Amino acid sequence: MPGSPRNAEANAWPRPTAAAHEGSADSTGEAARAVQGETITMSEILVLYYSREGAVRQLAQRVARGVERVAGMRACLRTLPPVAPVTEVAAPPVPEDGAPYASVEDLARCAGLVLGSPTRFGNMAAPVKHFLDGTGALWASGALAGKPAGVFTSSASQHGGQESTLLSMMIPLLHHGMLLVGLPYTEPALAATRGGGTPYGASHVAGADGTVPLSPEEAELATALGRRVADVARRMGA
Ligand SMILES: Cc1cc2nc3c(=O)[nH]c(=O)nc-3n(C[C@H](O)[C@H](O)[C@H](O)COP(=O)(O)O)c2cc1C
Repeated sequence: MPGSPRNAEANAWPRPTAAAHEGSADSTGEAARAVQGETITMSEILVLYYSREGAVRQLAQRVARGVERVAGMRACLRTLPPVAPVTEVAAPPVPEDGAPYASVEDLARCAGLVLGSPTRFGNMAAPVKHFLDGTGALWASGALAGKPAGVFTSSASQHGGQESTLLSMMIPLLHHGMLLVGLPYTEPALAATRGGGTPYGASHVAGADGTVPLSPEEAELATALGRRVADVARRMGA
């Protein structure tokens, strides 16, 4: 199929076509997945994150919990390998612990996406950008257009650039045509929090040494973000 991710180099920049942007079966969110040899059909929200020290991973687990509060929806937790300045780090085929690495196919099949990154100088971390830079074929096929998405982050300090990091992650998702889901003040924890949690997405203030645990409000808002993205996906027919 022209424009299909299977026919394109992962990092090539393909030309979009009108036909390709009409979407495909992949964009319905109905995912037939092989899990431990068993093929199952489900509506999945991809909770995709990079975490070096574990703070973003904790948020991701809360987001996943929120996804699974929505009837019929399931969270698919995936992480990303690190990159190095000169060449890509030769990552093991599967991480030593935690979630498996994400593939572009995971993104193509999901009914919605919740994307998490540590704050790096007020921006998303390089592994997240690197992964997104490999999604040109999905952009060309329109596979993500119309799917809901949310974002989350963790930073060392409270005013260290959480909102700009969340906004930086939204930009490529908007190019993909995703529908951004935030956190409104109807979530009581948003007004109550003294740490992380923003209208732009969930967040955590981990402290200078990264040891501050998630506050109850930060955990609640991460769960709410997962629930909200899953609920929108379900309402859209996933
Ligand atoms: C290169 C680098 C840049 C960072 N930039 C910021 C920053 O701009 N603002 C901030 O508050 N924290 C910054 N941090 C701290 C991380 O965002 C913070 O430790 C985060 O909680 C790490 O998430 P993780 O535990 O999931 O890896 C930076 C850390 C590194 C290594």
